[in-house]
Amino acid sequence: MPAIVVVGSQWGDEGKGKITDFLAQEADVIVRYQGGNNAGHSISFGGKKFALHSIPSGIFDPAKLSIIANGVVFNPQAVLEELKYLQDAGVDTSGLRISDRAQVLFSFHKTIDELQENARGAAKIGTTKNGIGPAYVDKYKRSGLRVADLLDKDYLTKRLTEIVEEKNLIFTKLYNAPAIEAAPLIEEYYGYGQQLKRYVMDTSYQIDKELRKGKKVLFEGAQGVMLDIDHGTYPYVTSSNPIAGGATIGAGVGPSKIQEVLGVCKAYTSRVGEGPFPTEQINEIGDKIREIAHEYGVTTGRPRRIGWFDAVVMRHAARVSGLTKLSVNCMDVFSGFETVKICVAYKLHDEIIKYYPASLQDLYDAEPIYEELPGWSEDITNVGTLEELPQNALNYLNRLSELTGLEIATFAVGPERDATVVLKDLWKIAEEEVINNA
Ligand code: GDP
Ligand code: IMO
Ligand code: MG
Repeated sequence: MPAIVVVGSQWGDEGKGKITDFLAQEADVIVRYQGGNNAGHSISFGGKKFALHSIPSGIFDPAKLSIIANGVVFNPQAVLEELKYLQDAGVDTSGLRISDRAQVLFSFHKTIDELQENARGAAKIGTTKNGIGPAYVDKYKRSGLRVADLLDKDYLTKRLTEIVEEKNLIFTKLYNAPAIEAAPLIEEYYGYGQQLKRYVMDTSYQIDKELRKGKKVLFEGAQGVMLDIDHGTYPYVTSSNPIAGGATIGAGVGPSKIQEVLGVCKAYTSRVGEGPFPTEQINEIGDKIREIAHEYGVTTGRPRRIGWFDAVVMRHAARVSGLTKLSVNCMDVFSGFETVKICVAYKLHDEIIKYYPASLQDLYDAEPIYEELPGWSEDITNVGTLEELPQNALNYLNRLSELTGLEIATFAVGPERDATVVLKDLWKIAEEEVINNA
């Protein structure tokens, strides 16, 4: 004890990696609980910059455990590449642990993702084409394989032979694509298992053990609430549960073990891929923000779609994830903006609504109702306290807090670890909660 969950509150890329890295400085264990290498988490400290995809943002300190938990779809080839990338940069990766229950993402999942996306044509989801959806489909239809299975050659051979037979029907009959062969795949994935087996363990058991020892555990979500398979803009979502509840399932811990749920957002909104985005700015404002903040995907390099801050989305995120505090990144991006807008409600067919509708058509029809606040001209990249913020930036931050109903735990004025300004000491708060509830 204690434990904190870091959750993306918009459509991903809110700066979860940055905040996780920041909070990880005081954590003992950092756990990725869902998604896969569709994620791209940027971390900058000491003049160095890293992009992580499957490995938790705590890996930079070998004294900490960095756990890829059971809820992740685990691409062993991608993780081996990521390990090499880190090791080449001089990072000691010995703190890594991999759940024996994580689902394996195979190369054929990636192929199916690509074929499916191409077949969808104009109705494409805009996936990262990393095979995430097809790997979760196999998990839920109970025809997947888990990391533990990579270590059992007989079982791997038997199951992978059967699975490849089924996939070949899909490839050849449905997509007119070439069939694949089981034998080389078995060797390849058995080989990955052998290379990774020293990291593999029952991570739920390990997390529980650490919590019992009084260690600090940080759960790192990937993607964001609006990409959640249940609570996002379905079907334009990912295939897992980024919401805080996903941490309990995806890491094998009970909800009673978690004290704080930190929602991460940017001072504006971004989205990659297709789907509704009510506050999107397809104009010079969107272009300006994209260029100032270098809003291009870490995983796919795609330009991110940009829009104003949406308090309707954020209240939805706060509810479905049970957010307790908020981290607002990228405050610096608005320096030089004459005014800044916040969406406070939607107008839908002559009605004012303050909730996020489920119907896609309603989302496309919803017109944002904005509040316009005065901007600030000052460069705030060196601000280190709340008091140093220009009045209009402070007013903006306070308004975000009011509209979301959440206290601000941190705000950030740059991508670097040190550009994070702390208003609430989350670990201290979580520790006090543990003591009070004991
Ligand atoms: P994640 O997927 O949630 O970890 O976020 P990404 O790393 O994909 O995208 C966030 C982007 O914003 C990265 O390029 C970060 O370096 C950058 N970033 C994070 N916080 C700040 C900030 O306060 N100011 C600026 N200018 N950039 C930031
Ligand atoms: P991080 O963790 C932003 C989006 C894709 C697509 C949809 C489904 O860096 O915030 P998928 O490949 O998951 O089947 O794609 O989800 N998407 C992300 N967008 N950040 C991410 O991760 C994302 N991971 C997936 O663009 O719209
Ligand atoms: Mg990202």
